[in-house]
Amino acid sequence: MPLNVAVQMDPIERINVRGDSTFALLLEAQARGHALSYYTPDRLALRDGHLFTTAQPLKVRDTLGDHFSLGAAKQVELKSFDVVLLRQDPPFDLAYISTTHMLERVQPGTLVVNDPANVRNAPEKVFVTEFPDLMPPTLVTRDLEAIKAFRAEHGDIVMKPLYGHGGGAVFRLTREDLNFGSLYDMFAVTFREPWVVQAFLPAVKEGDKRIILVDGEFAGAINRVPAPDDLRSNMVRGGAAKATDLSVRERHICERLGPALRERGLLFVGIDVIGGFLTEINVTSPTGIRAVKNVGGPDIAALIWDKIEAKRQI
Ligand SMILES: Nc1ncnc2c1ncn2[C@@H]1O[C@H](COP(=O)(O)OP(=O)(O)O)[C@@H](O)[C@H]1O
Ligand SMILES: [Mg+2]
Repeated sequence: MPLNVAVQMDPIERINVRGDSTFALLLEAQARGHALSYYTPDRLALRDGHLFTTAQPLKVRDTLGDHFSLGAAKQVELKSFDVVLLRQDPPFDLAYISTTHMLERVQPGTLVVNDPANVRNAPEKVFVTEFPDLMPPTLVTRDLEAIKAFRAEHGDIVMKPLYGHGGGAVFRLTREDLNFGSLYDMFAVTFREPWVVQAFLPAVKEGDKRIILVDGEFAGAINRVPAPDDLRSNMVRGGAAKATDLSVRERHICERLGPALRERGLLFVGIDVIGGFLTEINVTSPTGIRAVKNVGGPDIAALIWDKIEAKRQI
């Protein structure tokens, strides 16, 4: 049965057609005969407990420069959709959090992927702390004395924002680095939140592995190897995507996380593993579907739609 699907995303004219996971999901949905509607988060309106948006029918094409067409804008109640894809990109700020509160109003009649309350409760670098045996030595704080003690213990450390993304403001400090004081001051004025202080993992030069789980099960992976002159493996920072397999330890990580993700309605999740250590659980708007397929991996968009269709038939 065709589903009535809405996608909540950033402006579609700006996406990277070749790399965007949301776009891969839309192409697959359309190929399966589902009807697509499009809106940006700023079009949501919660009126007397009923959630509305101004949506446009959407057609997508895998053609650079001509990847979509939109029909006439119409005000619709969100509960008229079978499925809403929550796919806007971070920042994970109060604007993002507000949309998760609003989307909760259409559940359980409408399936929201990923589940908005659980997206809100699982910021990528905070969720990991539920699995302390899987993560590297990690401190979340803005307390100078706590950071000094952690640095004295571990020597070589990384400092990065708690709600950062795309490799923004990720710094390595060796034991001898005299920039620590200034960097501390800069973080303290830049961020209101605590931040992450983590043991530096030398294995990063072999890559930061993105492993995708669909409804709690391993679906595919890609290794991202940093450029020789950068710490960061993020593809937007020049990291190179390489085909990869899972180690025994990485399979164990997937098995540990699977039930927690399934329980919370986190259907499409990307976890990041450096040298066997879990550093992030991405639930807001994970990416990697197209990169996995480009290196000969499985069609994860198809796996995700298989799951969504199965859930809608219950
Ligand atoms: N503890 C660490 N040890 C070594 N490299 C790290 C560490 N933490 C982050 N990095 C590097 O920085 C990149 C970005 O950090 P990450 O924690 O993934 O934040 P973001 O959300 O910005 O992607 C990683 O892909 C990795 O290359
Ligand atoms: Mg990352």
